[in-house]
Amino acid sequence: MKLFIGYATSEGQTRKIARHIADRVVDAGHAVELAPLADAADVDLTRFDGAVLGGSLHAGQYQKVLSEFAADHVTALAAMPTLFLSVSLAAAGHDAEDWRALDKILADFQDATGWVPGQVAQVAGAYMPSEYDVFRRFVMRRIIAAKDPEADLDWDHEYTDWDGLDALVDGWVETLGS
Ligand SMILES: Cc1cc2nc3c(=O)[nH]c(=O)nc-3n(C[C@H](O)[C@H](O)[C@H](O)COP(=O)(O)O)c2cc1C
Repeated sequence: MKLFIGYATSEGQTRKIARHIADRVVDAGHAVELAPLADAADVDLTRFDGAVLGGSLHAGQYQKVLSEFAADHVTALAAMPTLFLSVSLAAAGHDAEDWRALDKILADFQDATGWVPGQVAQVAGAYMPSEYDVFRRFVMRRIIAAKDPEADLDWDHEYTDWDGLDALVDGWVETLGS
């Protein structure tokens, strides 16, 4: 099986997730093309048996490059098995309002791009003060302090559930063979 894995990232966590998945899929004996979506606008998706696209949320929006890629390649994406990784900090918690917001953002993304992913995974991302500018650090400290009172606000913290992600990807890859 040959898979395309494309990602958009602002602080690097979605890239780390995409690389992790690529390694896992390759270790399972498949071929992978891994690319930042910014460099993949002209990719011919019909060369692949499936596609994984990932992006992260910032102020309730995915990266523009992800939306543009999905809209530009919607015909090919609709004709192949696809998995969408939506990376956010809302997905790290159990707040019903946050999860409703994730559903709404996903629905808006689907409406805007026309792409309805075969499977969607809401993946918990990371708090990365080492990567933030002063404004982002201020905003994110307040959000994390409210959501995770135990967190040490001075240090990067990963909320990604790697084992859960592995199980999800393995399950999706299995469906490709059937
Ligand atoms: C300025 C800023 C805004 C963010 N806005 C949201 C948001 O609206 N909803 C959310 O769930 N997470 C939000 N996050 C958290 C990111 O989605 C999370 O840190 C993710 O891991 C970033 O992935 P990336 O490093 O691949 O860009 C925000 C993070 C930053 C720095």
